Amino acid sequence: MIWKTNITEMIGIKYPIIMGAFAGVGRAEFAAAFSNAGGLGIITALNYNTNKVFQNEIDKMKNLTDKPFGVNFSIMPPIMAKKHPKARTEETYIEFLDIAIEAGVKIFTTSAYQANEIGKKLNDNGCYWFHKCTTLKHAISAEKSGANAITLVGVEGTGFKNPLQNTTLVNVTMAKKLLSIPIIAAGGIGDARGFLAALAMGADAVCFGTAIMATKECGVSQNYKKKLINQDIFEEDFYRQIFHHELKDKSIYSMAAGHIDKVVSLKEFIDNIIKEAENILNSWGFKGNQLNIA
Ligand SMILES: Cc1cc2nc3c(=O)[nH]c(=O)nc-3n(C[C@H](O)[C@H](O)[C@H](O)COP(=O)(O)O)c2cc1C
Repeated sequence: MIWKTNITEMIGIKYPIIMGAFAGVGRAEFAAAFSNAGGLGIITALNYNTNKVFQNEIDKMKNLTDKPFGVNFSIMPPIMAKKHPKARTEETYIEFLDIAIEAGVKIFTTSAYQANEIGKKLNDNGCYWFHKCTTLKHAISAEKSGANAITLVGVEGTGFKNPLQNTTLVNVTMAKKLLSIPIIAAGGIGDARGFLAALAMGADAVCFGTAIMATKECGVSQNYKKKLINQDIFEEDFYRQIFHHELKDKSIYSMAAGHIDKVVSLKEFIDNIIKEAENILNSWGFKGNQLNIA
């Protein structure tokens, strides 16, 4: 089946599936495998310390995939940046941004804090700017500043939390009414039903974070993958970390861990989501060979 949404059409990817940003493991091998499997792979710029290393990573991406890929700039919120002398702020990314634009990268994601300077430069250079945030207020503001799409992360997800964060369901259905640019749903999504549900709620793509961490290509340890597979998401401490904002500034995986039962390749992961989603659509009576929600 052909999957057509405003995001697949905008950036030329096969499936409406976007890779999350990952401090630590969001590197070329992982991202290229994601792009090769039909989604949008993303390398996370904060994993690189020098221009040369960052440039090498972009070169590596180009060798590993001929499909579209993106670069993420995660910006540390000022309140946290004060505690971290090496915090990545918008200014610290400007040289990386020039390198990536010069290298022909066309798709960028920004996250964790407003990124209007970077966004403006992306707009001026004809690049796509996807901003990721946790509240509709920030989403509306990023749309006004020129973002081409918004990733909204629900409270069932992970990453930096906001005390006013809503669920993925409230985020996406309300965003569909309040935004005019495409929406990418994130937060707690880990299977074909969640994927299809997000599209039904109004998303043009789904961003997977936790769900792809137990894939063969993800650079976390085997022990971490085992932990993910065995995580009881109904266990109180885990639940509290996710829903009661006890995550603080730690990166922990999300409720999507409940859907992980074995280590698979990224291609298997994405193929399974698509195959199962198509089976569900067929069981509902959809018999077409193109799903067009663009
Ligand atoms: C280990 C880990 C590291 C992460 N690092 C970042 C990061 O550096 N920047 C960012 O914007 N998001 C980061 N995220 C959040 C993901 O990009 C994505 O928004 C989130 O995982 C979506 O929720 P989900 O895990 O429920 O799919 C991280 C997530 C995990 C699990």
